[in-house]
Amino acid sequence: MRNGETIGPALLELPRTEVRPPNIGSWEEARKGFAWSVAERELGWGRGDPVNIGWNLSDRICRLGRAQKPALVWEGAEGQERCYTFDDLRVLSNTMAAWLGERGVGPGERVCLFLDRVPELYLAFVGILKLGAVVQPLFSAFGEESLATRLLDAGTCCVVTQRKHLPKVRRARTLLPDLRLVVVVDAGDAKLGEGEVAFDLDAEPRVESYEVFPAQPETPSVLHYTSGTTGQPKGAQHVHRSLVSQFLTTKWVLDLKEDDVYWCNADPGWVTGTSYGIIGPWSNGVTQVVLDAGFGAERWYSFLEKRRVTVWYSAPTAIRLLMKEGLVPVRRHDLSALRHLASVGEPLNPEAVHWSRDAYGLPFHDTFWQTETGCIVVSNYPGMPIKAGSMGKPFPGITAAILDLKTFEPIAEPGRVGMIGLVPGWPSMIRGYWNNPAGYAKKFANGWYLTGDRGTVDADGYFWFVGRDDDVINTGGHLVGPFEVESALLEHPAVAESAAVAKPDPVNMEVVKAFVTLKPGREASPDLELEIMNFVRKRLSPIAMPQEIAFVPSLPRTRSGKIVRRVLRAQEFGEPLGDVSTLMED
Ligand code: WT7
Repeated sequence: MRNGETIGPALLELPRTEVRPPNIGSWEEARKGFAWSVAERELGWGRGDPVNIGWNLSDRICRLGRAQKPALVWEGAEGQERCYTFDDLRVLSNTMAAWLGERGVGPGERVCLFLDRVPELYLAFVGILKLGAVVQPLFSAFGEESLATRLLDAGTCCVVTQRKHLPKVRRARTLLPDLRLVVVVDAGDAKLGEGEVAFDLDAEPRVESYEVFPAQPETPSVLHYTSGTTGQPKGAQHVHRSLVSQFLTTKWVLDLKEDDVYWCNADPGWVTGTSYGIIGPWSNGVTQVVLDAGFGAERWYSFLEKRRVTVWYSAPTAIRLLMKEGLVPVRRHDLSALRHLASVGEPLNPEAVHWSRDAYGLPFHDTFWQTETGCIVVSNYPGMPIKAGSMGKPFPGITAAILDLKTFEPIAEPGRVGMIGLVPGWPSMIRGYWNNPAGYAKKFANGWYLTGDRGTVDADGYFWFVGRDDDVINTGGHLVGPFEVESALLEHPAVAESAAVAKPDPVNMEVVKAFVTLKPGREASPDLELEIMNFVRKRLSPIAMPQEIAFVPSLPRTRSGKIVRRVLRAQEFGEPLGDVSTLMED
């Protein structure tokens, strides 16, 4: 299995009911004369009209005659099931919007969803957009500090959560003057405190008709927090017009057709779970299935089989975990409904592409994008030959290039490494970082949007990922900012100084490794290592927790005293340090 080998027809033929041409037709044809107005026309959106995403995902689909079609088929960890039609989605999102509005939440205010993948998460997401408020989804495994940092920055007025997450919300709330309302979706007989209100989706009177907020193309919609190298996470601000890109990329890259059953196993705390776990499929009027349970090969295969999933959007770490389980569990299940597989979040290694083709009869198609791009920007399209290990080609309507790392001029010759740059201006690109115009300005140079990723492009126009251009750690497809981890480490009473870097990992690609110096009188020990790990896990999240802590006498610094993570990272990866004299400059 060599890097770059082109994959032909599947080796293993599974029974397929029908083979239909891909929605994109051919990539070459789709690129010729492309304009985003293709998508605007299909959405029935005329310039000057309001374009509320919430309305487009529910009311519009009902008007297309799909009111009784399932929108969400949900399965809980204990096997509980719920099914919501597009009409339920329309009415229940109305109900949520009206209920929040009556409690004083207004357009433009930030409402956080701090929920497991329960049905309320999906319905409230749509409802908050209908109200014209900004939806801020956060991963429910976040600890109180990760939660508080993001709510404080966004000036969030309302958090929608579950009983089990209330203790974390309550602790965070002591730091949050703007947080007026905490909504509990499963309060039952729990004793609620000041500003805490129960919302019971089943008991609340259904609101049949609701006046949806007339969002304009540039009205803020979704606020996702993402990690950078320096400082706390940044709020990536999306707008309602993002729908245009999310709708069309879902249709052309994920190839969703009217009768598909689609599964995106990403959590809506991350952008994949909203762009392609809510907006993309529902704007296409497609049924999606959700499993509110963690990874398990047997569980996932049973789910794919039982739900007759046809299109599956997953991630390299999950695929590597499935590979570890081998073919035996695959063959125990009837996965013949599957017809298209895609992946995002980290480099998809060639072995995973070949393995999936052999195991499922279908190769995973790598797709590349970021929180900031809002939609897939480089991808392998159905019908286009895959070069295993490559991210594919730019989406029609996206201009991508490899830029010289110093001049930011496009590099013409194939194979030379540079920064992956994009011409700004596609509909779902973020319009700024919340409260942080300087951070946003740094994302542009010489007329290009800078992804912060290094790559190459080959003579056939395929893009290849090389690595990140910064110190951000990508663990299992989730970005972790070293600064946030270092800050949490410094709060531990034994820690004097800290540095967090990536360490290679066979499954998660990278994990967090911390280097710390201790305060005088404190001694390194395995117990202290465990204690510090748990300290970070509780404050931040299991993902941000260092998997290893090295106690060191000192940390590498620049001449002016700034800690240089790159030296530590290079050691972990066994890479040469290069010119250390310049490394030590500020
Ligand atoms: C970063 C963006 C976009 C959804 C999930 C992540 C890395 C993403 C790939 C890929 C290699 C990838 C990049 C990128 N990344 N997709 N196909 N191959 N790397 O969104 O949290 O904003 O992370 O994930 O480094 O910049 P995100």
